[in-house]
Amino acid sequence: MSRIAYVDGRYVPHLHAQVAMEDRGYQFADGMYEYLTFFNRKVINPDLHFDRFERSMRELEIPQPMPREALRMVMMELIARNGYTDGGIYIQVTRGVARRNHPFPKAPKPVLTLGIYPSKTPAPAAYEHGVKVISHRDIRWKRPDIKSISLLGNIIAKQEAVKVGVAEAWLVNDAGEVTECSHSNCHIVDSKGRLITHPADQQILGGITRTTLLRLARELQIEVIERPYTLEEAKNAAEAFNTSVTANVLPVVQIDDAVIGTGKPGPVSKRLLEAMLEDIYQQTGKIIPTKTEAKAAA
Ligand code: PDD
Repeated sequence: MSRIAYVDGRYVPHLHAQVAMEDRGYQFADGMYEYLTFFNRKVINPDLHFDRFERSMRELEIPQPMPREALRMVMMELIARNGYTDGGIYIQVTRGVARRNHPFPKAPKPVLTLGIYPSKTPAPAAYEHGVKVISHRDIRWKRPDIKSISLLGNIIAKQEAVKVGVAEAWLVNDAGEVTECSHSNCHIVDSKGRLITHPADQQILGGITRTTLLRLARELQIEVIERPYTLEEAKNAAEAFNTSVTANVLPVVQIDDAVIGTGKPGPVSKRLLEAMLEDIYQQTGKIIPTKTEAKAAA
């Protein structure tokens, strides 16, 4: 059975989900998106996503296509129609269809689309052993805090990671500081066990998982320092990890040629991963395996 998508007011087979050639999203990347995850049909932190979604629309002056509660209903309807238990929901809004011309159209009619995807939770081995990443120049536009569909800078960096067979690309700005990653936030832990993370300013996307991470860290009495750090500092950190709604807390054990800490996921990352997965369990009842044995036994 083909997946069902939602396109501008209609539920349609995913393979036939289409928008117009002159949709400004298609021609100018003039739109924004959200990616949410759900387990046992329960969406994780939906209101944090809707807050960010509405903020992105305000920043881009794209009219909201429907109120939050209506959008929530469309999202739940999509999950129900597809019969998925676990997965991801992609929501996109563009400034709509208009004759190709740079200025915003006078009376834009935003186009809303939603798609559903199978769960992309990392394999238990990734949590158990950690992953490798590369560094890459941050060539994105200067407002990545807006979740814009303009992701060329992100996908170019990710492709470099794919070419060398690693999980992510850590983005480095012209000052030599790590901002975030191609599709996740990144964080380090210093030798005193303090969590260091780039501030959620205009240089990074304020990840929903990052917000949860900082709350959990404070609950665990892990000191949090929000400040920029250089690539050099990251390579010499005790621990490093990525966060996103799909990766949760994913330990990083190597950046370029530099082995991080002992080369194994460190204690602070492990505590934060555990706390994050407990938070997901509390919201959804889903147990995410982090050990290869656990998978074999399942
Ligand atoms: N990516 N930074 C970037 C550039 C991202 O694309 C993402 C998420 C994050 C983490 O945000 P969150 O914790 O809200 O997932 C940070 C999503 C998953 C995506 O583009 O598919």
